[in-house]
Amino acid sequence: MAIDLILNGKAVALDAPPAGRLIDALRDHAGLTSVKEGCGEGECGSCTVLVDGEPVCSCLTLAGQVAGAKVETVEGLARGPDRPLVDAVVEAAGVQCGYCTPGVILAAKALLDAHETPTRNDIKTALSGNLCRCTGYHRLIDAVDKAATARRRLAGDAG
Ligand code: FES
Ligand code: FES
Repeated sequence: MAIDLILNGKAVALDAPPAGRLIDALRDHAGLTSVKEGCGEGECGSCTVLVDGEPVCSCLTLAGQVAGAKVETVEGLARGPDRPLVDAVVEAAGVQCGYCTPGVILAAKALLDAHETPTRNDIKTALSGNLCRCTGYHRLIDAVDKAATARRRLAGDAG
């Protein structure tokens, strides 16, 4: 049975087992390989995707649970208001091995969508579920801070 959802802005019928994990449905049935499996137990955040704007661990979510929902992965962020966020993480050398990066970017997007002017503490809290073994977090926090400024500028230019 297909699972109907909005995936990265497009209505799709995902041909994946509803009782299987969302991470497998996205990687194996939708080809969205940015979604990474680390611990498989809800601890590392590398499998983070957004479901109706909220970060969730796709390793702990059943594919059938997202029927009718809006699901976002990093593949959907290349254009529009989220581009500065992706660019800021890359420019801040926030990507080293890159394994945590898609999950970090999505957790940051959820924060920036909810808070136009987050404090560094807000950013730290928002990223606290995403483990990174490489960067020491400061670069990631700097990048999200910079992206928040770039987003405000973009919104100002458009308004
Ligand atoms: S793989 Fe899902 S939280 Fe680690
Ligand atoms: S860049 Fe390697 S785990 Fe974060």
